[in-house]
Amino acid sequence: MSSLLHDDDARSGSGSTCPWHSLTGVKHESVVSQRVELTAEQTSRASRGWWDANAGEYHAEHGEFLGDDRFVWCPEGVDEADAGLLGPVRGKRVLEIGCGAAQCSRWLAEQGADVVGFDIAVGQLRLGRELDRRTGTNVRTVAADAEAIPFADGTFDIACSAFGGLPFVADADRALGEVARVLRPGGRLVFSVTHPVRWAMPDDPTEHGLRITSSYFDRTPYVEVDRHGTPVYVEHHRTIGDWVRALTGAGFMVDDLLEPEWPAGHDRVWGGWGPVRGRLVPGTAIWVAHRP
Ligand SMILES: C[S@@+](CC[C@H](N)C(=O)[O-])C[C@H]1O[C@@H](n2cnc3c(N)ncnc32)[C@H](O)[C@@H]1O
Repeated sequence: MSSLLHDDDARSGSGSTCPWHSLTGVKHESVVSQRVELTAEQTSRASRGWWDANAGEYHAEHGEFLGDDRFVWCPEGVDEADAGLLGPVRGKRVLEIGCGAAQCSRWLAEQGADVVGFDIAVGQLRLGRELDRRTGTNVRTVAADAEAIPFADGTFDIACSAFGGLPFVADADRALGEVARVLRPGGRLVFSVTHPVRWAMPDDPTEHGLRITSSYFDRTPYVEVDRHGTPVYVEHHRTIGDWVRALTGAGFMVDDLLEPEWPAGHDRVWGGWGPVRGRLVPGTAIWVAHRP
């Protein structure tokens, strides 16, 4: 395993970057990075496999920062306990999209929300059971793909996601359509994703990374393939305008777009992002929307 941080351009056939994967800090030596088109099915298969296999390693790298039962929105450390982006949650039916080990769901449950999380990777959910044992909680989770959410129409008051599912799906229109379907009218959606401007920059958290090396407008996904040519990790890029169109196309009203500044005194480098660039350029986009 190694990080994608400094040697990405050398190993990648295309010199492509990958904003979020660099944040995972987890990468197999044998994979090759590419920008190449991929179907929704290939994308889901790769995501399921990668997050299943690497849940433990991801948690070893970032578990302490995320906490077992905190709701951390992003590497900048925005915490829902302070930010209150979801509004009051007590007694609300809440869905967490791409919940991973369900840290955010656990915090929501502790605040009195009626919460369920889902994730494409059973390995992540299994880790969540360990965190449950450690914290004396029992968060409800289910294995599912964000492009086919297994709940009835109008089930939830709030849907949320901290970098879960949505940066990875091939068809954001479909995924957001699913989220809109399971929210009741008036329901709120808040989710964080890699800020789209990061896609134009190299995967390097130092000053050397303060340059534009690929097109912001290139929507070709970032893909890692193994030595057999099988896609094993995928992220899909959308511009700010793409996200607005995907949200409004799914029937949402966009209420806000938060671009958290890197806070003073926070010096943790998370994969490809950290204080040097984070003080100058946004690394995270947090979308706030509601279903009219
Ligand atoms: C970066 S983690 C975010 C989860 C959690 N907030 C955290 O920080 O660990 C991304 C999660 O999205 C999940 N994911 C990726 N594609 C998905 C999809 N199509 N549907 C549901 N979950 C997905 C992954 O399995 C992973 O657990």
